[in-house]
This record gives sequence, C-alpha cells and structure tokens, in this order.
Amino acid sequence: MSYTYQIKSLEQYHIDYKKSIDDPAAFWSSVAENFSWQKKWDRVVDWNFKDPKIEWFVNAKLNITENCIDRHLATMADKPAIIWEPNNPEERTRTVTYAHLHKMVSQFSQVLKNNGVKKGDRVCIYMGMIPELAYAVLGCARIGAIHSVIFGGFSAQSIADRLEDAAVEFIITCDGAYRGGKDIPLKAVIDDALIGNKTIKRVIVYTRTRTLISMIKGRDVWWEDEMDHAERQLEANDIINFPAEEMDAEDPLFILYTSGSTGKPKGVVHSTAGYMVWTNYTFVNVFQYKPGDIFFCTADIGWITGHSYILYGPLSAGGTSLMFEGIPTWPDAGRFWDIVDKHKVNILYTAPTAIRSLMSYGLAPLEGKDLSSLKILGTVGEPINEEAWHWYDEHIGKKKCPIVDTWWQTETGGILISNLAGITPAKPSWATLPMPGVQPLLVDESGKEVIKKDENGLLKGNMCIKAPWPAILRTTYGDHERCRTNYFSTYENLYFTGDGAMKNENGFYRITGRVDDVLNVSGHRIGTAEIENAINMHAGVIESAVVGYWHHIKGQGIYAYVICSHIHSDESLTQNGILQTVTRIIGAIAKPDKIQFVTALPKTRSGKIMRRILRKIAEGETNNLGDTTTLLEPDIIYDIIKGKL
Ligand code: PRX
Repeated sequence: MSYTYQIKSLEQYHIDYKKSIDDPAAFWSSVAENFSWQKKWDRVVDWNFKDPKIEWFVNAKLNITENCIDRHLATMADKPAIIWEPNNPEERTRTVTYAHLHKMVSQFSQVLKNNGVKKGDRVCIYMGMIPELAYAVLGCARIGAIHSVIFGGFSAQSIADRLEDAAVEFIITCDGAYRGGKDIPLKAVIDDALIGNKTIKRVIVYTRTRTLISMIKGRDVWWEDEMDHAERQLEANDIINFPAEEMDAEDPLFILYTSGSTGKPKGVVHSTAGYMVWTNYTFVNVFQYKPGDIFFCTADIGWITGHSYILYGPLSAGGTSLMFEGIPTWPDAGRFWDIVDKHKVNILYTAPTAIRSLMSYGLAPLEGKDLSSLKILGTVGEPINEEAWHWYDEHIGKKKCPIVDTWWQTETGGILISNLAGITPAKPSWATLPMPGVQPLLVDESGKEVIKKDENGLLKGNMCIKAPWPAILRTTYGDHERCRTNYFSTYENLYFTGDGAMKNENGFYRITGRVDDVLNVSGHRIGTAEIENAINMHAGVIESAVVGYWHHIKGQGIYAYVICSHIHSDESLTQNGILQTVTRIIGAIAKPDKIQFVTALPKTRSGKIMRRILRKIAEGETNNLGDTTTLLEPDIIYDIIKGKL
C-alpha cells in the first residue's frame, strides 16, 4: 500500500495547504478516491455554521470496516493489524492479523445481529483494553450500530447518565479489567448503573479477569458462548464474511461523551465518511506512516485519541497498531520502554502527563532498553512544557526522532494543528502549522480577528476555525441546539474551540490552554461545574468552587474551595468523605487534589464567583490579584489566603 496523498516536503505542504483552502471540494475528493466506496458522493461538502449543518461526501455510501479491514485482505491478510500487549508482562502477547480481525469482526457482527442489534441502535461499550474491545467497536460499525465507548474509570452514575442520554439498549462489557496492580470490576459497575434502568435489553460479557460476577437471567449473556454460536452459524451457511451494512456518508459512526463548561457531559456525534477520511489522512501525514511501521499510541480507546489513532486511523491505512492494556508505571516505570524494545516500535504517540510522570523516575528505568527502532515521537492532550519536550527528545528520541505536537479535540475527530514528522519544522511547545483544510483564526472577546501583535511579536486570542474539515462533530446527541450554542454561537460563523492560542511570525500556533471553565487533568477534560455539582451532593456541603492549578505531573490539578455547614474535628475525614462522593458521582479521575474549607467565596455584586482570583490563590500567587473592587466582600479573599497557608 502506498499513500499517494502523503506530503513529502515542506514545499508540498504549502502547495497542498493552499489547494485545500482554494478548492476544498477538489482537494478532498482527490483524497477520498483512495478509499473503498459502495457509491461515490454527489457533492463533496455542503455546510453552514449557523444551524450548524455540515455534510461531507454527500450521498456517498460506504462501510468504514470495509476500509479498515476487507480492502487490506487481498494483499495483507497475514499482516498484523493489532499487536496486543497485556497488562502483565508475563502474559502472552497476541497478534491479530487482518485476516483474523476480519473473522472476529464478522463473527461479532453476527453476535450483535443475533442479539437484536440493528442499524442506528446505540451500543455502550465498557471494556478494558483488550482486542475484543476492537472487535466490539468494529462489529458495531459493520452492522451500522452507533458505538458509545465509556472509559473504564467512570462511575456507575456517569454510565447511567450516558445510557439514559442516548437511550442505549445494548451493553458490551467484561467481568473485569486489569490496570497495573488493580482489578477493575467492570461488570459490577455496570450492574450498579443498571439499577432501575428499563431500556437495556442485553449485556454481553467477556471473561477477562475471572472475577466473580452475577449474570441476570434474560439480560446478560457470555461473549464466548455467543461467539461460538455465531461461528457455527456462519460456518453452516458457508459464510466467512458478514456483509457490511451500507451506510450513508453522514450516518453517525459513534457517540463519545466529553465535558464542557456547563451541565453534564455531552455526546459528541461523529459521522462515518468524513471521520474516516480525516483520521486516515492525518495519521498518514502527521506520523509519516510507512507500511510495516509499528505504531504505538498509548491512549485508552475510551477517549477520542484511542478511537482515532489506535483503531480507525491506523487500520484504515493498513497499519499495525500496538494496543496496550496496562499503565506506564507498572510493574515499573520502564514498561513503555520494554514494550518499545520488545516489539521494535517505530512510532510512539503519548501524552505529556505520561512523559512528566516517567521523567520523575529518572533515567534508571531506561537502562538496558533498546529504543533504536523509534523513528518518530508524538504528544497529545495538553500543552507540553519545554522541559518535558526536551527530555522526550533527548532520552527517548536520542535527538534523532522528530516530535509531533498534535493539537485537537474530541469534537474535531482528528488532529487539526501539528507539524508533520520530519517534513515541516518542529518547535518545542508549539503545535505549529494547521493541517490542510484547517483554517484557524484568533479572535478577541468580541469575535474580531486579532491583528495587533504583542511586544514579543505574537498574536494572542481565542482559537476559532473558519470552515469545516471532514471530521468536525455533526451534533451533540439528542440536543442539536446544545451543539450550536456550545461551539457555533460564541462567535458568528466560526467554530469556537474553547482554547486560547498564540501565533508567531512563521504562522506557527502555540495552544496555551482552555479559556472556559474546563480543566485538563492528565490530558482528560473535566468541567469545573461537573465537579462542583458532585461535591455539592456531599452531606453538609453548602457551596463549592473548583479551579485548576499547575500540577507537575497532571498538568492541571483540581483545587476545590468548599463551604460546609459542619466540618469534622479531624478535617481529613470530611475531606475523604467528599473525595468518596466525587468518585461515586463521576469517577476517580475527577477527585480534587486539594480541598480547602472556606467560610465564603469571593463573589461579584451580581453573585458570580470570581474564579480568576481563586485560580491565582490556588497557584500561590497572592500578591497580584488584579482588580478586586467589584467584589461584594473583598475581605473574604484575605481569609482564604490565610486559610491556604
Ligand atoms: O485544550 C486542548 C487540549 O485538550 C483539549 C481537548 O481535549 P479532549 O477533547 O479530551 O481531547 C484530547 C485529545 C485530542 C483541547 O481543547 N489539547 C489537546 N492537544 C493539545 C492540547 N493542548 C495543547 N497542545 C496539544 N497538543
């Protein structure tokens, strides 16, 4: 397989970028020719940001799994599609060839059909990082069901909210999952989430940890039994290939929940064709993927990075994707480097938080590890600080591997701004140049383009995008108006990312972080309002305010100011109680790192909490709090500062 659309020089990047802006239809139709379609498009793109209504490859028909699996069978049946590395290094690695992936996905599609799943149905997947998760996701895509993968760290309550939001009828899960030294009881969490649920018809359970679980009659079935049955059915009918459903280009492929600045997480909906073209195009270009390369993305499939760059991007390119079940620090902090050495990984894509965490163990975990197979490194999820960038460059890439700093979001489906490995220049902490088809615009609060440079020659503003790229979100599930108000109404005719950014004289972008009330903790998005709601549910809590502060490993830590009617004489008991409540309501990922009890919160006369001030206090910056004259009771802030000491 060769990629005719792979950019090979800086000059070609500029030419292609210009073409993609001058004539998007011609550009993307030529890229789309490289895929397998059941019917080609009538028009390449129709859009307006007002409604918003965005359609790519209008009226085309396809199935994404034919592009990710079937079309590779003629030439690459025996090539590894997925190499699976288990949590426990003593356990056997599994290699899934394209032929085997095809067999498993066909079989699982039959299982879904046998269990009554139809095109358009929503299927929740709550599993650990095992190959069966890939079969489940791709099986849904093959029969046209909409998958909604939920990260294994979310609580029963979070799952229940998501199941209700998307009126889910089917769940695929495991008895448990391994994560480092822990066993996570996935099925038990699902059982809790289903108390009182009336819509779930079937729960399919894969055995991973042999944890004792309860199976509910008429509702729960074993994956293994269902797969055996499906295999016999397919064999009896002499079918090796479960026919892929014909999907419209714009049919939803999946829902993935993500946090915003208000309310509960929203279900971001991605389409089929645009998402496929984009994840493939960005994968091949950003990582300069070459057939045969082993690509290791360390994300979890519960997040967008896993969807796009463990599954759909690499598989649609006929690549080999390494899927890892464990965590970077177990059994020791050399785990990633053992995997790179063992599987001769060529491209490593991870998060700044993982790099910072591994840095903190020093160089000992690297001793004796052969990292010479590495050619390209990548980061995603949050701004990478220069210290971490240089450590990655020096100790992992040995100064010979280009590092791509890829900026994007759940809503963007794939990478929007990044250097192309070894092709366009890198700059530490800068995501650099937009991908073809992406037109960033920095605006001020009123939505006007920022044109005045600061004293360092930089333009600074809120990051918007002027026109759609193929993988832009199409809606938020069940609530299109929420999609419009969240992303398309802040600034007229622009998609607003929620990020602040700067641009230098070379046209490079540096993303500085969220400008809304959304935190990025270890590369995961959590809304402050969501955490506050969970804290406020704890008995005795009257009010709370959550802000982020710089955390040397997580990037951002969660700082909660809490007013309680009663605090236990041993404060830590009340604190632990609050942590327990947040874990129950959202999941351990949302637990505050610091809780400070206060008697009041700084508010404006109109009752709005002055988070700006709370952020500064949390950061320890107490001398320069800015304008406090609009505060109702300015003295409160001195009590808070005293309480922090
Ligand atoms: O603030 C940006 C940050 O992560 C946010 C998106 O989070 P999420 O939807 O969970 O997706 C994460 C994986 C794509 C963005 O709004 N972000 C992501 N990548 C970068 C980044 N910030 C700076 N540099 C990046 N490379």
